[in-house]
Amino acid sequence: MNKALRKAVIAGNWKMNMTPSQATALINEMKPLVADAKCDVVLCVPFVDIAAAVEAAKGSNIKIGAENVHFKASGAFTGEISAEMLKEAGVEYVVVGHSERRQYFGETDQTVNLRSLAALNAGLKPIICVGETLEQRELGYTETLLKFQTKMALTNVTADQLKDVIIAYEPVWAIGTGVTATADQADEGNGYVRQAIAEAYGEEAAQAVTVQYGGSMNAKNAAELVSKVNVDGGLIGGASLKAQDFSVIVKAASAE
Ligand code: PGA
Repeated sequence: MNKALRKAVIAGNWKMNMTPSQATALINEMKPLVADAKCDVVLCVPFVDIAAAVEAAKGSNIKIGAENVHFKASGAFTGEISAEMLKEAGVEYVVVGHSERRQYFGETDQTVNLRSLAALNAGLKPIICVGETLEQRELGYTETLLKFQTKMALTNVTADQLKDVIIAYEPVWAIGTGVTATADQADEGNGYVRQAIAEAYGEEAAQAVTVQYGGSMNAKNAAELVSKVNVDGGLIGGASLKAQDFSVIVKAASAE
């Protein structure tokens, strides 16, 4: 296990929050607070905020991501956004397969795979989310499920493309609930994800992949979570809407 082989990434996931003017104000507040970061700093924002966010982040170390991407290049898919559109708008990262999309919008392991491929083929870095429900955990399926979701998401992703992939282990029971996985649970879940990558691409490739933890990570618990060998940063929901809290998390990841 070698943490030095991979870069920690702290990514905010704003979900359905912030208007464009609020996005500008929040990023302007964050910029000086995260300027010294030794990890990568990303904010994944609603589609309509992208232009304002890219403009506000210009010249800073904050990179902008989107929260979803469609798998087709163009066509009759009302309400969807293509990878090419995101790329031209200045987006570098995109969240794929968030559990809220799986739960409320019919996202499947297959569409997560197709969206990931579309992102990679357009030169975007997908942040692919995997995670078990409480029921699945209690039935003892956490390892099986995490490995399955990870391998499905990466189907037909080449070893070269894997270098642009980030996986976020987000136990569904810890998202937005205030219940955080313990640092050991996070490390174990991230470890299963890394094992699945090793089974598909070999140990060396797996050691280089950034695997984040997500689920109620906040200014108080971030340091302990990111200190774990398999936790290379985090995907942050609620706490990414507060400049001060988000910057404390960035600092914690910078210390690792
Ligand atoms: P949370 O969300 O930090 O608010 O739990 C994390 C996520 O859904 O990515």
